[in-house]
Amino acid sequence: MNIPLVDLKAQYESIKDEINFAISEVISKSAFIGGPFVESFEKAFAEFCNVKHCIGVGNGTDALFISLKVLGVGPGDEVIVPANSFIATSEAVTLTGARAAFIDIDPKTYNMDPNKLEDCLKSRYALCSMRSANRPKAIIPVHLYGQPADMDPILDLAQKYDLKVVEDAAQAHGAEYKGRKIGSMGDMACFSFYPGKNLGAYGDGGAIVTNNNEFALKARMFANHGRIDKYDHKIEGVNSRLDGLQAGILKVKLKHLPGWTEKRRRNAYLYNEYLKDTALITPYEIEGSKAVYHLYVVRTKEELRAELQEFLRKNGISTGIHYPIALPNLKAYTYLDSNGNDFPEATKASHKIFSLPMYPELEQKQIQYIVKAIAEYSCLFWD
Ligand SMILES: Cc1ncc(COP(=O)(O)O)c(C=O)c1O
Repeated sequence: MNIPLVDLKAQYESIKDEINFAISEVISKSAFIGGPFVESFEKAFAEFCNVKHCIGVGNGTDALFISLKVLGVGPGDEVIVPANSFIATSEAVTLTGARAAFIDIDPKTYNMDPNKLEDCLKSRYALCSMRSANRPKAIIPVHLYGQPADMDPILDLAQKYDLKVVEDAAQAHGAEYKGRKIGSMGDMACFSFYPGKNLGAYGDGGAIVTNNNEFALKARMFANHGRIDKYDHKIEGVNSRLDGLQAGILKVKLKHLPGWTEKRRRNAYLYNEYLKDTALITPYEIEGSKAVYHLYVVRTKEELRAELQEFLRKNGISTGIHYPIALPNLKAYTYLDSNGNDFPEATKASHKIFSLPMYPELEQKQIQYIVKAIAEYSCLFWD
């Protein structure tokens, strides 16, 4: 049996006629940039996230960069991000001229640890009273792997320290936290529609959602060369727009997303159940949250991860590591002068975690096959 990490072909096969029709509609109406398909998707996605506004943009990284620009983040500012994420989260901060400040993660959820956030804010404010430079301006909680970050304490701290909150929801379309939709809690929230995401386009795409009218207007302008009307450029911006073809495809897929999410959740519970007698640590959902399992990440003994992955590969099972190097330990951040000791949990996790195949079309018998292979490996090699 061959089981990929993600199976985009299986998804396309299941909705082929609808997708092909949507693509031909966009082409026949030549609605490539802006126009009715983009507007219709933006409206539907705003409703889905339970927010007032959605602005389609070129990709998730741009969504983060544009949101930070709209919030006035720039040189001299610091933006707080978790030490475990894809580089786009911190990259967007640096692109504005601000500096990324990393916070270690909670080893159970792999998301930003609110206690460490509080410690960091206390100490940084002490520093800032002596030096006015690099004052914290915003926090980017990431709902990594589709697991909601613990938003209540993060939002409380943001209010206490007068910080803006930009949710990085690139991996968490449709997830919920204590009855609230991911994307509806921060000042702004950012989604990626990269093809492998839970809601994925057939190319790059992204969106910003917000309840704030002023932020929405500014984001729309900034993403479209600083204009609302054709040649009336109020400011300089960038060219970052969701295109008509991607919007048409995403609108079709959005209808299926709740069903796909349920299947991902069912698959996660099957894995949890079957893996409970192995030495692997399975994902943890914080109370009151509904994770959407963009990835199903397990934790193993450090020294056995590579061997187990290789054993699974030989059995036709693909796995991945998200992410093999914690953000502050990447070469790209050498200039920030931190080291693994500053972020022990993120560093430890990066040596022990790996991702098992996860997608809605994954079948129970495939999960059983994967778990059987893991159990076989455990019997052979685990003490
Ligand atoms: C957590 C996170 N943030 C941001 C991004 C950036 O999204 P994009 O690839 O659409 O630019 C990604 C995408 O991989 C992501 O996983």
